[in-house]
Amino acid sequence: MQFSFWGFAFLAFILGVFATDDGLQQVVEWENGSLLVNDERVIVMSGEFHYARLPVPELWFDVFQKFKANGMNAVSIYFFWSYHSASKGTYDFTTPGKDIQRLLDLAKQAGLYVIARPGPYCNAETNGGGFALWTSDGSGGNYRTSDETYRKAWSEWISKVGEIIAKNQITNGGPVILAQVENELQETRYQANDTLVIYMEQLKTAFRDSGIVVPLTHNEKGLRSKSWSTDYNNVGGAINVYGLDSYPGGMSCTNLDTGFNMPRTYYQWFQEVSPTQPEYFPEFEGGWFQPWGGYFFDQCLAEQSPEFADVFYKGLIGQRATLINLYMAFGGTNWGHSAAPVVSEAIWLNECWLTCYPGVHFLRLRRTTA
Ligand SMILES: *[C@@H]1O[C@H](CO)[C@@H](O)[C@H](O)[C@H]1NC(C)=O
Ligand SMILES: *[C@@H]1O[C@H](CO)[C@@H](O)[C@H](O)[C@H]1NC(C)=O
Repeated sequence: MQFSFWGFAFLAFILGVFATDDGLQQVVEWENGSLLVNDERVIVMSGEFHYARLPVPELWFDVFQKFKANGMNAVSIYFFWSYHSASKGTYDFTTPGKDIQRLLDLAKQAGLYVIARPGPYCNAETNGGGFALWTSDGSGGNYRTSDETYRKAWSEWISKVGEIIAKNQITNGGPVILAQVENELQETRYQANDTLVIYMEQLKTAFRDSGIVVPLTHNEKGLRSKSWSTDYNNVGGAINVYGLDSYPGGMSCTNLDTGFNMPRTYYQWFQEVSPTQPEYFPEFEGGWFQPWGGYFFDQCLAEQSPEFADVFYKGLIGQRATLINLYMAFGGTNWGHSAAPVVSEAIWLNECWLTCYPGVHFLRLRRTTA
């Protein structure tokens, strides 16, 4: 068969078989600025959803269907350690509101990919950033460092939640295509012996040990530092797909007159920090939380009108973003004092994207990307 070699090479070329992967699987790869899932180029349009803020599984499918109906193909989810581990040594994944398996099954059923973000630190304006509250007696050690006491505490969580996430990866027929390590951890010293670098290495090992093989990601906290990209000063700790968050509307529910900053340098930023990877926004402003003494969402909404979506989301496409997660796409309620002190007792803003303007924003964006 003379055809075989060149024929294969040609086929490989057009099918994108030269894509890059994480070396552990070839179902989720990336090439020329976007993700490939099963060799098909995918623009990921995702929305953030926190099941802990809607702890009623009967309502999850409705939310996922609305995401889908709004043109999204993915949901990005934080898994809060604090929510599943009320005391040392206890991990609850079976109480209905904590049933992750059901959550992931429903996402799959709705036709959504899942981007799993199990921390161990999440922030997300939760009390303790998602750390199990029992760690606050000192058994959490030195948080977010390579401290051994801390490592022992989070290892349990990552191995338990990681095992469930692993089982639900696309490689096993599930919906999970990416997994985020930590959140907003700024790399400050590019030295292999730095405690943060060692910490990221420990986390990556723990994720992999739990069976997670899909590409690992991270969320850079705004345009402030250049962290954990394989393409930028990598001395260890780098993940596969670098991501950046951005909230150009600022604290719009605290002060309605803050105005907007239209960032025009995302593309240049990614070209510098992660040129071989797709441009990923693990969080892009979709709303804001309800602050103490701030405005309620019906007033804030003016700041995040359809025009906001039109200008800002198209702006992202114009700057070649190919993975966009709107944060939040569904808000919910902080039950049982689970909110950080900056957030008022109840509402994480922006459930309104779905309930007030179903379809409008995402369908527009979809038309832009098609
Ligand atoms: C895709 O990326 C590869 C490797 O960087 C490059 O050789 C190729 O020219 C790119 N293709 C396109 C269409 O840009
Ligand atoms: C860390 O590494 C740097 C060089 O990369 C070295 O100068 C420094 O002494 C090291 N620090 C420790 C605590 O080993």
